[in-house]
Amino acid sequence: MLVRAADSLARRRTDAMPTIVFASPKGGAGKSTSAVILATELASRGATVTMIDADPNKPVSKWAKRPGRPDTMTVVAEVNEDTIFDQIEDAAQRSSFVIVDLEGTASQIVVAAVSRADLVIIPTQGSQLDAAEAVKAIRMVRNLEKVKQGKPIPTAILFTRTSAAIRPRSLQAIQSEFESSGVEVLRTQMNERDAFRAIFAFGGSLSTLDPSQVSNIKAAVANARAFAAEVISLLRSDATRTHARVA
Ligand SMILES: Nc1ncnc2c1ncn2[C@@H]1O[C@H](COP(=O)(O)OP(=O)(O)OP(=O)(O)O)[C@@H](O)[C@H]1O
Ligand SMILES: [Mg+2]
Repeated sequence: MLVRAADSLARRRTDAMPTIVFASPKGGAGKSTSAVILATELASRGATVTMIDADPNKPVSKWAKRPGRPDTMTVVAEVNEDTIFDQIEDAAQRSSFVIVDLEGTASQIVVAAVSRADLVIIPTQGSQLDAAEAVKAIRMVRNLEKVKQGKPIPTAILFTRTSAAIRPRSLQAIQSEFESSGVEVLRTQMNERDAFRAIFAFGGSLSTLDPSQVSNIKAAVANARAFAAEVISLLRSDATRTHARVA
């Protein structure tokens, strides 16, 4: 079902499968965590996924060295600004999904990955100070769209580390501010969850975690599933919009 979704997305644009890039200049915004959760969720549902670890600190590669990585998932670690564009192209021919984790600074490698993205996800924590950093990432995407003669690069904000129990007014205000300036905000938030941290300590995916060591895995699985489903539907609606514009 997922593979079919990726296939039909690919057919509608080029022959390449969708590339999802996690970007934000803010260190610790939740890029690597959200990227690995999305990748493992898609892979655990049978999709082939290539993750490109474009952060020199190599958080994804370190995770991948631990046991439990899904069989359908590949991690590419050797990337630089000269090779990343072609590596994304190659991966998009082989895998149902390509997911790129970037470093928390603006660099040539970030520009190359974002300009090749079918969807840019900008993770941010829910404070005003964090949101200001997310705005910088949005500006970078908008500038790259200008370089691409106005061709849109679909972009969405993802709130991370939010409380599952309460929804503070301040967070709602930030969300409204993004939306009123035309920025897409994912309905799903990556809540603050022990299980999302734990996969980096133990390796593997949410489904391989030991419930005696990690609390509330079930809620984390539901959260990851909702996140993946929303990403797929966003890719689909963007593909439809692009298709309609071209037709
Ligand atoms: N949803 C979450 N629940 C719990 N902890 C989280 C969540 N998202 C991120 N974290 C924790 O927050 C910290 C920063 O997350 P992460 O490394 O994913 O951010 P990043 O944007 O990739 O950072 P960098 O810019 O340094 O690459 C980590 O300690 C991670 O475990
Ligand atoms: Mg990171």
